[in-house]
Amino acid sequence: MDQLKHISCGIKGLDTILGGIISPSTFLVAGSAGVGKTIMSLQMLSNASKSGEKALYIPITTENPEKLKLYNSTLDFYEDSFEVHSINRQLAEKDPLTTLIEIGNILESIKPDRLVIDPITPLGFGFIEQEKRRFFYTLDSMLQERNMVTFLVGELLKSEIHNSVVSHLSDGIIYLTREDRNTRADHRMEFIKMRGIDPGKRSEITSHKYLYNINSSGFTVYPHLRPETNIKLDDSRIETGIPGLDSMFEGGLFCYNSLLVAGIPGTGKKLFGLQFMLQGLEKNKSSMVVTFEDSPHQMILESKKIGLELEEYVDRGLLHFVCTNPNEMYPAEHATNIKEVIEKNNIKRVFFDGINHMEIAIPDKLELRGYLYSITSYLKSKNITSLFTTDTAPSECPGNEKIDVASIMDSVLILHNSKAKDRRYMCVTKSRGTKHLRSIKEYAITESGIKLRTDTLI
Ligand SMILES: Nc1ncnc2c1ncn2[C@@H]1O[C@H](COP(=O)(O)OP(=O)(O)OP(=O)(O)O)[C@@H](O)[C@H]1O
Ligand SMILES: [Mg+2]
Repeated sequence: MDQLKHISCGIKGLDTILGGIISPSTFLVAGSAGVGKTIMSLQMLSNASKSGEKALYIPITTENPEKLKLYNSTLDFYEDSFEVHSINRQLAEKDPLTTLIEIGNILESIKPDRLVIDPITPLGFGFIEQEKRRFFYTLDSMLQERNMVTFLVGELLKSEIHNSVVSHLSDGIIYLTREDRNTRADHRMEFIKMRGIDPGKRSEITSHKYLYNINSSGFTVYPHLRPETNIKLDDSRIETGIPGLDSMFEGGLFCYNSLLVAGIPGTGKKLFGLQFMLQGLEKNKSSMVVTFEDSPHQMILESKKIGLELEEYVDRGLLHFVCTNPNEMYPAEHATNIKEVIEKNNIKRVFFDGINHMEIAIPDKLELRGYLYSITSYLKSKNITSLFTTDTAPSECPGNEKIDVASIMDSVLILHNSKAKDRRYMCVTKSRGTKHLRSIKEYAITESGIKLRTDTLI
């Protein structure tokens, strides 16, 4: 046999996770009804045939082939470019030997590079286990004779996989599940068995579940966000855009820093973030805003009211938005969207407005910290300066606020409204790798933005 080679599986995100699949190989794609086994398989076949491979789909079904074709034609990615040969499901259940001969004949005449049998589990249904095994071993030797990638779809729950002979014949087992969560179904993919993958990736792949999504444009799996490897941190300083603030950090933030700006509502956190971003935009640095409550349009309008003109930067392709309803947010999907915008537009500054809204999507504090950690480490590895804002509970004195996510940020700045004195104060409570002023400074929100008041230091 030729040496093993890695090829694209044709499913968005899956190649990034697995680093491609081995050809030849056989995968069991298992899960209950409606989890997307067929859509995933069809997408693989469509993309394989688009890139010149011979692809064959064998549905084992009682459906009329015309009806199947009609269903599939609602999928945008679907192209009628691969071969379809249906086999009657009752025949497969009652007469597995004839079915195997039929499959053999189809394979012989088409000679596919990719094959999907959907589903394989009806083969010999009702026969005793020992006989069923024989049918599957025969099928296996038929598949082994050919140099192809095969997806055998299994109508199996996780607990049934290990008892199924197909699982032993497969090089990889992909299990799909669906759970209802919030207003959307939560689809997750896991790899129960995976032969031939990079040993460095094995434990990560087999110990994690990956979110996937199905829509008419196809089946997308979301890889976890990982920092870039071979990082070289850029320790030049950047200006924050807030007059007077840079001197609190020995001359500005490091290029790769994350800054958390925390305070009760009304302290000017959003304005702070916008000013920071605008400073970069004025120097033609591509920037991205990640919001959870405002639409880009709303943010542009509100910024205009306080004298910050963002529209021209959108028009010039310098300012980008990732806007997500936290009720419908899935962390891995969110992270993938962020990564795509960053990489496509060479983003240098990121403003995450109101990360407290993420608690709706990720109520578990540890999980939320983990998600934010993956984001900040990724941004750092790309030398992107990031500013996050979050709401805090009121405190008597600036600096006493309890902030869960403070530990994962490089620097933390607190904004504080003093009701008694009707004044605003800020202080830096943390700054990694650089000295910072420990004193509390007064600031004002003026028509030209946030400014530190040098005249009234306390
Ligand atoms: N155009 C679409 N847009 C969004 N979701 C879709 C679309 N088409 C199908 N789906 C989703 O995909 C699911 C069906 O997927 P699929 O037919 O691949 O499941 P399956 O695992 O093969 O199920 P079964 O075992 O019953 O054959 C549906 O439940 C639906 O939620
Ligand atoms: Mg199906």
